[in-house]
Amino acid sequence: MIKTFQQTTSSEQETIALGETLSRYLMPGDVVALLGELGSGKTCLVRGICKGLECADQVTSPTFTLINEYRGRFPVYHFDFYRLESEQEIFDLGYEEYFFGDGICLVEWAERALPLLPQNYIEIRLRSFFEPGRQNCRELSLTIHGKEMQKRKFLAFFHHDQILES
Ligand SMILES: Nc1ncnc2c1ncn2[C@@H]1O[C@H](COP(=O)(O)OP(=O)(O)OP(=O)(O)O)[C@@H](O)[C@H]1O
Ligand SMILES: [Mg+2]
Repeated sequence: MIKTFQQTTSSEQETIALGETLSRYLMPGDVVALLGELGSGKTCLVRGICKGLECADQVTSPTFTLINEYRGRFPVYHFDFYRLESEQEIFDLGYEEYFFGDGICLVEWAERALPLLPQNYIEIRLRSFFEPGRQNCRELSLTIHGKEMQKRKFLAFFHHDQILES
C-alpha cells in the first residue's frame, strides 16, 4: 500500500514554512524527489528545507552544474535535472555517492532520474492550481517509497490532511 499525504499552501512563505517543518523529519541518507512543472515551487520548498537544516549558504537552483552543495546540520546536495540532456550526465556526476551517501539529497526535476533513485525515497509532487479568492495556490503531495521509509513518521507531518491510499 502506498500512502500519499496532501497539503496546500497559498504563498511562497507558506511553502518555505512547510519545507522547514519537513526538514525535521529528514535524516542523513534521505533522498527527496521533487516533481512538478516550472514555477510550481520546488526551489521554494528546498529553501525551506535548507533553512530548517540551518544551511547558511544561499539556495539557488544549480542550473549549469546540476548540483549545489550546502553545509547545514548535515551535508545537503541540491540537484536540478531540468537541463539534463542525457542520463549519462548523472553517471558522470558520480550520483551514487550522493544518493547512497550520508547527506540529504533534494532533487528538482527528479522525473528525469526516476530509475536511478534508491528504493527508499520521499516523493513530493507540486502543482499550481487556481481557487477563487485565493491566489498562488500550490498543492503538495508527499508519497513515501520503500519499506524502510514506510516505518518513518511522515504522517505526523501531514497529520491534518487528506490521506489517499492506492
Ligand atoms: N504557494 C506558493 N508556493 C511556492 N511558490 C509560490 C507560491 N505561490 C506563488 N509562488 C511563486 O512561484 C514561484 C515558484 O518558483 P520556484 O523557483 O520555487 O519554482 P520551481 O518549481 O523550482 O521552478 P523550476 O522548475 O523553474 O525550477 C516563485 O516565483 C514564487 O514566488
Ligand atoms: Mg527550481
